[in-house]
Amino acid sequence: MKAKILQVLRQNRQGYVSGQELCRQLGVSRTAIWKYIKQLKDAGYMIEGVQNKGYCLIAAPDILSESEIVSQLHTKWLGNSVKYFEELDSTNTEAKRIAETSDWTQWHGMVVVTDKQTAGRGRRGRDWDSPQGSGLFFSILLKPEIAPSNAAMVTLVKAMAAVKGIAEVTGLQPQIKWPNDIVLNGKKIVGILTEMSAQVDYVNHIVVGTGINVHQTEFPDEIAQTATSLDLEVGKEGRNLQIFRAELLAAVLKYFENYYEIYLQSQDLSALMEEYNHLLANRGRGVRVLDPLGEYQGVALGIDKRGELLVEREYEIVKVSSGEVSVRGIYGYID
Ligand code: BTN
Repeated sequence: MKAKILQVLRQNRQGYVSGQELCRQLGVSRTAIWKYIKQLKDAGYMIEGVQNKGYCLIAAPDILSESEIVSQLHTKWLGNSVKYFEELDSTNTEAKRIAETSDWTQWHGMVVVTDKQTAGRGRRGRDWDSPQGSGLFFSILLKPEIAPSNAAMVTLVKAMAAVKGIAEVTGLQPQIKWPNDIVLNGKKIVGILTEMSAQVDYVNHIVVGTGINVHQTEFPDEIAQTATSLDLEVGKEGRNLQIFRAELLAAVLKYFENYYEIYLQSQDLSALMEEYNHLLANRGRGVRVLDPLGEYQGVALGIDKRGELLVEREYEIVKVSSGEVSVRGIYGYID
């Protein structure tokens, strides 16, 4: 109900919505509306109530409550169920717990969000630092009818959605470091961890977890040189933009829903690879391929329809698959 009130107030951002109109749209009494408005004010929303005019949303806090998130969503099915927690070990772990203990018809498209992770997980067994209120930590739970061998591409789809959502909300222009890190000015701003439960020919569930650095002003020593946040990057441009994580989440989900539907049609990236390559930071650059069988260098040309990176070596073009190797710039993370 609070999500719906926020939605109606947001649609009328410049003006007032009468109590009567709110009652009509929500199908509840004026007393109920008054009670919900009071709860929203208590949660930090600035809502002006003027007699004979109604209510106007003046300002909203940067919170990730279920009502705040749902009131901003522009999706058809993704996020039909949003589970918000003030604190979790990890949104990926929680999403997996949900998938393993309930019926898939209830969780397909579910989004699990938290304000703080106590055991946030990164790729290759690393931790993902997730202090309270600093970032956007969320996981999407999916049950696609695809072959397990096609599932890795969902991560690249998610990377595209993150870039587009961030660009829309902040005006920044991040890029993708293949396969799925998002970078700004050579530093990492988003990490994606996709996990799957499958049988040989059947996907039980896929959890796509995303961490976006939003408000951090400092990072742990190990990543201090290679990580940045949206606030820091907006600040470098001399802009004073307040970033609302729920708005950012809604934008990323909107793009993900669209790209994911396109991906599902062919179960590959044939219809998306041109756009992906356009967003690729490594494209046309020298890369070091850290292959366990032997490191080599080449020039990254872009991805193919399976999401493999095409690397031009002296006399051949090699297809690099993300599960096997990492790719770095010749001199550092990107360059
Ligand atoms: C990486 O190593 O780059 C991937 C980081 C993924 C972090 C996100 S935060 C939300 C979700 N929950 C986790 O525990 N990890 C992912």
